[in-house]
Amino acid sequence: MNDSLTLRPASRLQGTLRVPGDKSISHRALMLGALAEGETIIQGLLPGEDPISTARCLRALGAEITEINSTEVRVRGTGLGQLKEASDILDAGNSGTTLRLMMGILASQPGLFSTLTGDHSLRSRPMGRVSNPLSQMGAQIWGRQGGKYAPLAILGQSLKPFHYHSPIASAQVKSAVLLAGLLTPGQTLVTEPARSRDHSERMLRAFGAKVYTDESLTVAVEGPAQLVGQTVIVPGDISSAAFWLVAASILPGSELLLENVGINPTRTGILEVLQAMGADIQQLNPREQAGEPVADLRVRSAQLRGTTMGGSLIPRLVDEIPVLAVAALAAEGKTIIRDAEELRVKESDRLAVMAQELRKLGAQIQEHPDGLEIQGPQQLTGASVSPHTDHRVAMSLAVASLLARGETTLENPECARVSYPDFWTTLNQLIL
Ligand code: S3P
Repeated sequence: MNDSLTLRPASRLQGTLRVPGDKSISHRALMLGALAEGETIIQGLLPGEDPISTARCLRALGAEITEINSTEVRVRGTGLGQLKEASDILDAGNSGTTLRLMMGILASQPGLFSTLTGDHSLRSRPMGRVSNPLSQMGAQIWGRQGGKYAPLAILGQSLKPFHYHSPIASAQVKSAVLLAGLLTPGQTLVTEPARSRDHSERMLRAFGAKVYTDESLTVAVEGPAQLVGQTVIVPGDISSAAFWLVAASILPGSELLLENVGINPTRTGILEVLQAMGADIQQLNPREQAGEPVADLRVRSAQLRGTTMGGSLIPRLVDEIPVLAVAALAAEGKTIIRDAEELRVKESDRLAVMAQELRKLGAQIQEHPDGLEIQGPQQLTGASVSPHTDHRVAMSLAVASLLARGETTLENPECARVSYPDFWTTLNQLIL
């Protein structure tokens, strides 16, 4: 693909499609498959760059991962505590989930020495949020600025069980601690201030670990665990579906059917907010697939109105906020996004970058330390914009460009490959 892409306004979107596999579930399926005894088959794996980074790290640690086809793989695990030392630096690329979850796995296997790094974005993202709780369990982790930033070095230890009260609702932090608890005798617990996505808990249980959850915000895992290979069917990623849900909502006359989308309640904040904004979205054929709820989503265009989102809703739609900012530009009235300071430490500072790039398209946006305020509707005008190497920013700006008057030039469109390799091809197919 070229260094930049020209995007033109669209009148409407129409069609039926399947979004690629859920990124969070894809990472976890590869990791648990690698740690389990026996064979794991993963169907519907996201063939994006982030899961490819996870697979690369796990292969270097002794797991056999073979492609059956582009979205189906076979993993032959090593068994818990049996990873072999990697002979080189493990590279997590752009993927925070890879780096943070691997920290929990690697820190808890006694004697295993590992070094980890990532791309420029990942090396500037905070790792202290994971190295702190792991260190309190007895982990030995070194990194820049006292273990706060990658590159990191880890010498695996026999850890002690621990109850971690996390100051942030983060599935990556929670999962890293729970994964470290697999080899740690006794109960390892994590309490969060709000519920984050629970894919790790669901999948650990399916692989045979004892995981305790209830209505409270505490999760526990019992170690030492034994994991046995499984068949995992990965649903479509609701975070990828979000671009189409917003695009079809705001382009009059649009109608899309998105088949096989994961609707895990810890991820469906986007549906609730769009519905509160007046969107016309129907959940069809709800079903359960390998422990995760799935449905087909039909979206038809509708006049949206502004809304306010914050509090415990934010972790349930944290990755969808960039595209919700675009929805707010098309909505009548004011949209307020608050309690979203976590966006500042994603693949880019998504609050600053979205405000900056949407302003290039003529938008008026107020940026606050923890969110955005947008008065709609606003007319956008095509311009040259940059995704700052952030896949979700690239795709959100593409949705904005469909509404703009004139042409938009997007730099570095291929960064979308991190979570949605076919995004640009699909966009072309849906535009009428
Ligand atoms: C993820 C958790 C979220 C999310 C990220 C994937 C996961 O990050 O933003 O895209 O797979 O656990 P945080 O845990 O940092 O909120």
